[in-house]
Amino acid sequence: MFIMEIYEPREDSFLILKQIGKYATGTVLDMGTGSGILAKEASKTANVTAIDINPEAKKYCKGIKFIVSDLFSNVKGKFDLIIFNPPYLPNDPRVEDVALDGGEKGYEIIEKFLKNAHEYLSNQGKILLLFSSLTGKEKVEDIIKKKRFYYKELSRQKLHYEELYVYLIDKNEPK
Ligand SMILES: C[S@@+](CC[C@H](N)C(=O)[O-])C[C@H]1O[C@@H](n2cnc3c(N)ncnc32)[C@H](O)[C@@H]1O
Repeated sequence: MFIMEIYEPREDSFLILKQIGKYATGTVLDMGTGSGILAKEASKTANVTAIDINPEAKKYCKGIKFIVSDLFSNVKGKFDLIIFNPPYLPNDPRVEDVALDGGEKGYEIIEKFLKNAHEYLSNQGKILLLFSSLTGKEKVEDIIKKKRFYYKELSRQKLHYEELYVYLIDKNEPK
């Protein structure tokens, strides 16, 4: 079964949403915007471009610039903040949902995203990234370091089967 429905905002969306007011200034890219919940919050303080691989998301992004794109494939320019609440769960072959499936182990999409992110960040550019204990905390930290970024945990939330984390990822070593 292959699902391509708009992701209804859940605990993960709300956890990362809380950080947006503090970090969204200048130009912001909301990667995997879905319902547009994070893009709308960021648009209160910044100039936002919303991206999703799912063209249906455009309907939910009225008044916000929207581009259909597989990660950065159709993106141009540099951003002061990139927000990404990605699909972060290990692939379940019974339910292939584009909003949940982060790859075989769950972290592959984050790895692919971070591989190209440098190019799309301004000099002081930062990333707000959400992931779960099911994605693999140490593995994600390892990927962040390998891609030459610095990170700081901003918040976490325990749920029944997992713990969620929001990280601030920086091109520059925080002072
Ligand atoms: C967990 S949902 C988050 C949706 C929304 N940002 C939120 O916080 O509620 C992940 C989103 O990423 C999108 N997505 C999945 N793979 C993608 C890709 N390769 N490029 C761009 N968007 C992608 C999905 O369609 C989905 O809307």
